[in-house]
Amino acid sequence: MIDPGKLLEKVGVTQGQVLLDLGCGDGYIALAAAAGFVGPTGKVYAVDVDSQAIDAVNAQIKERGLQNIHATQADATKSIPVPEKSVDACIIASVLHGFVDNGEDDRVFDLLLPIIKNGGKIAIIEFKKHKALPGPPYDERLAPADVDAVMAKHGCKKVASFSAGLLHYTRVFITPA
Ligand SMILES: C[S@@+](CC[C@H](N)C(=O)[O-])C[C@H]1O[C@@H](n2cnc3c(N)ncnc32)[C@H](O)[C@@H]1O
Repeated sequence: MIDPGKLLEKVGVTQGQVLLDLGCGDGYIALAAAAGFVGPTGKVYAVDVDSQAIDAVNAQIKERGLQNIHATQADATKSIPVPEKSVDACIIASVLHGFVDNGEDDRVFDLLLPIIKNGGKIAIIEFKKHKALPGPPYDERLAPADVDAVMAKHGCKKVASFSAGLLHYTRVFITPA
């Protein structure tokens, strides 16, 4: 499992920042960011195409009484309902390989880049490309060099890389100015 606290710390998410968790699933990263990292002056957007996932995140938001997180159902190939130039850091965890496999990454990045501040960060977390490890079909997995190539195509420059638990790795990129 990915430790969301370690991940957010290594990405460099700090108090007062605006974070987007794109393809948030059950929201364990977004919820950890809202509960401890961005603080009351920051904001977290959690977006997923799956309305049941967003219902589950909203239930957690209510249960924990969090005021600084908005969970929204949206298909990132069609819209990402976040204000322009507002996001300091975007987390895309175990999602990019699907966009690439479906030929959707160009559409997603056309919508994503305008909502990130100049010089903001995008952290890509992906499954390690080892046949022995659980994850999506081997052919769909992205090796770190594949992630770098996708991100370079969208003008993003790698600034950090690290392991994220036994099954995943992380690459952090700066968006074009
Ligand atoms: C493997 S799960 C990862 C969930 C979460 N990020 C995590 O690390 O546990 C992939 C998620 O991406 C979401 N997703 C896939 N395509 C999407 C799209 N076009 N727009 C928004 N979310 C999408 C899925 O609904 C799913 O919740």
